[in-house]
Formats: sequence, C-alpha cells, structure tokens
Amino acid sequence: MRIIAVANQKGGVGKTTTSVNLAACLAARGVKTLLIDLDPQANATSALGLPTIDGHSIYEPLLGGAPISEKVVPTRWDHLWIIPGDMALAGAEIEVARAEDHLTRLRAAFDPFRHDATFDFVLLDCPPSLGILMTNALAAADELLIPLQCEYFALEGLSKIHHIVNEIRECGANPGLTIGGILMTMFMRNNLATMVINEVQTHFGDVIFKTVVPRTVRLSESPSHGKPIIEYEPGGLGATAYKALAEEFLARHQWSATAVPQT
Ligand SMILES: Nc1ncnc2c1ncn2[C@@H]1O[C@H](COP(=O)(O)OP(=O)(O)O)[C@@H](O)[C@H]1O
Ligand SMILES: [Mg+2]
Repeated sequence: MRIIAVANQKGGVGKTTTSVNLAACLAARGVKTLLIDLDPQANATSALGLPTIDGHSIYEPLLGGAPISEKVVPTRWDHLWIIPGDMALAGAEIEVARAEDHLTRLRAAFDPFRHDATFDFVLLDCPPSLGILMTNALAAADELLIPLQCEYFALEGLSKIHHIVNEIRECGANPGLTIGGILMTMFMRNNLATMVINEVQTHFGDVIFKTVVPRTVRLSESPSHGKPIIEYEPGGLGATAYKALAEEFLARHQWSATAVPQT
C-alpha cells in the first residue's frame, strides 16, 4: 500500500479533480484504490455522487476514536473505496492541534494497515490550507502529488510546498516524504502556460508528469453529475488526460499489468 497526498496549499488548482479522476482511472485498471476526502467541504465525496454521512469521515480515526478501516465505504465502481469528508473535519483542526502528537495522528492511524494488501494506493485529497489536516496528510504519506495550475504564481507556490516538505522531513514527522510528482493542470495553449511549464521543468525536471491536464468544461461539469470524467465523457480530452496520468503514475511505481490482482 502506498499513500499519496494530493496537496497544494492553494485552493482551486485541481487537487480534488485530480484525486477523484486519478482514483477512478486507477480503479478502472483493477488497482485497488482508497480515496480519502480530507476536506470539510467534501467535494471529492460529492464528485463521486456520494452523500456525506455524519460521523463517517477520517475525523474519528484522527482523534484515535476508531480505526480507519471502520470508515471505509465502497463506491459503485469496482476497486474504488472512499472515506467521505464531513463538516466534523473542520473541528479536527482545533481538536487535533491540542494533542501532543498532533502532526502524526493520521500516520499513527494508518499504522495497523500500512503493510497489508487491502489497498494498492491511498489518495489523500487535502484541503487548501496549511492547517493540521494537510500537515497530517504530509506526515502520513509516502509521497506527495502536487497539482499545479499553469499560471504566473505557480513557481512561488511550489517553493512554499517544497519548504513545508523539508520541514516535515526535518522535524522527524516523516523523514521519508518525497515529491512523487507535479501535475500541470488547467492547461490552455498560450505563451504564459508554456513558459510556466518550462520553468517548473527547469527547477524540478523529471518530477513533472509528462501528462498535462487541459482546461475543459467537461472536467468542471462532471462533479455535479457525481461521475468521474471517464464515465461522464469517456472519449474526451479530460478522460484521455487522466487515463494517461494513471498510466504514467503506475509506470513510476513499476506497476505491471500482471501485478494487478483481478478480484
Ligand atoms: N482541467 C480542468 N478544466 C476545467 N476545470 C477544472 C479543471 N480542473 C479543475 N477544474 C475546476 O476548477 C475548480 C477547482 O478545482 P478543484 O479540483 O476543486 O481544486 P482544489 O481541490 O485544488 O480546490 C473546480 O470547479 C473544478 O471543477
Ligand atoms: Mg479540493
């Protein structure tokens, strides 16, 4: 099981869109995927057409009140499970902050099943703030996937994340945390976007995914239909991009088709 935090302290960069659609594409490939909605707004939950269920989020496991496994719910797609978000998560910011081990609550909650084979990948859809939930996600994750909008301030945001990652490593909360990938999102073909991609490439090289997600209206419509893009518009540009991302992601993790258990 590998835990991936989909994070960027900036809102509206495509974290939720990427979490939901990458999770759906991995599941469609037969890869056992758990999506955890860490955002009190619960956008990832509703994007899969699921209601928020009071008391059914990662909130209790974060506070040590229940094991993570108790909060996992199936979705209508094979190989895809979710822990929905709920408003209680907003309270976690304050309550977890009071605890002594406040940085590593989520990491500790994962410990019982970090090494079992229930899931191949866990994707953490992080909220857009540098709060307790995001830092817990970074402390729990094996790696970070950073969606980055192709805009002028992208690099500035990136250096902030880099700084946070270093802090999480150095304070001992998660010495092994790596930046597993940077995904350029909402790409529109123009000079600025091309310049931003080139610049990020200069600084971060191969960490950037070759797949670039284009800005398409379909991608922004699909959550309101409760469907991932591969179901909402299977042949479209958005679906093509996220399927390509899933392939690239799996290749980075040395995942071969033969390794996929068909259950
Ligand atoms: N590639 C895209 N093309 C068009 N709209 C997008 C794309 N990616 C995300 N969006 C839209 O942009 C908004 C912010 O995306 P979201 O994934 O919710 O960002 P975050 O989780 O980082 O706040 C949403 O309305 C979403 O539907
Ligand atoms: Mg979001």
